[in-house]
Amino acid sequence: MRKRFVPVLMLLVLLLLTGCSGKQEPGGETASVVVGFSQLGAESSWRIANTVSMEQAAKEAGYGLMMENANQKQEKQIDAIRSFIAYRVDVIVFSPIVETGWDNVLSEAKQAGIPVILMDRMIETQDDSLYKAYVGADFYAEGVRAGEYLVRKADALGAEHLRIAEICGTTDSTPMRDRHRGFMDVIGKDARFTVIDSVDGDFLQSKGEECMRELLEKYGADGIDVVYSHNDAMTLGALNVLEKTDAAATKNMIIITVDGEKDAVDALKAGRINCVVQCTPHLGPSVMKLVREMTAGKEPPKVYHPEEGAFSDFDDLTDPAVEGF
Ligand code: AHR
Repeated sequence: MRKRFVPVLMLLVLLLLTGCSGKQEPGGETASVVVGFSQLGAESSWRIANTVSMEQAAKEAGYGLMMENANQKQEKQIDAIRSFIAYRVDVIVFSPIVETGWDNVLSEAKQAGIPVILMDRMIETQDDSLYKAYVGADFYAEGVRAGEYLVRKADALGAEHLRIAEICGTTDSTPMRDRHRGFMDVIGKDARFTVIDSVDGDFLQSKGEECMRELLEKYGADGIDVVYSHNDAMTLGALNVLEKTDAAATKNMIIITVDGEKDAVDALKAGRINCVVQCTPHLGPSVMKLVREMTAGKEPPKVYHPEEGAFSDFDDLTDPAVEGF
């Protein structure tokens, strides 16, 4: 393991300033491997479950975890990565809020010889050597699954024309870009479908509510046949609004969501949502496995996607396998 030369006083100051967790193992021993983890925020139940997964997996692996939550601010993530470099952690893991703007800070990590794992979201860069590995969903495939469900539903209903309102996640984030792209690649050339609007809901429940209210004002409940929402938090927000609206007009709206948290799967079972595309937040064990391989000098696979699927009203929803996180 590389030696950390940061003086003890500086380390104490860093830990106090950043509120980092898990520097020491439960027995009070200094962890042999320290992982610096920049989480992007706490915008959804998905994100909270993801943070817990990272904390538990680090604990089980016996690694110290210095975690910083950026509260949705890219600058805070950049600052956190710089503090991890100053501390000379063994590995940096981070979940980039947006795809662009990371080259400088990641070059600094590379120069310091600290490997970086991208967890959950990707970056846009000309230089792939700035990160060692990506662990996270195939968001494009998620978008494809959402589109395939809609095609199947339209076939089953014999629908001639469906007007789709899309509530998107954070602009320029990987899930926003790829869930849109995958969906459009399936439905885009089919004349039965028109995306009447794509609005930014920032992956937040409150924004999902706001977007749905605005969409209803603009198009009326009769003018929207499908809501495709990029995460459960926004979908549950939209449902709050829809279910207070004229029941007859919203009753047949087709609702498609992504993530698979318990409340959304329960809503699917209750007939309030039609399709839940899964996106697992439980990435911690796969990340720590990579950390183990990397600190043992092995070259990790560049991309790891967990296996995911979708649940919908075409499935037997009494099957115990249909459950949320
Ligand atoms: O990056 C994963 C996405 O971010 C999840 O779908 C969403 O719930 C979270 O906020």
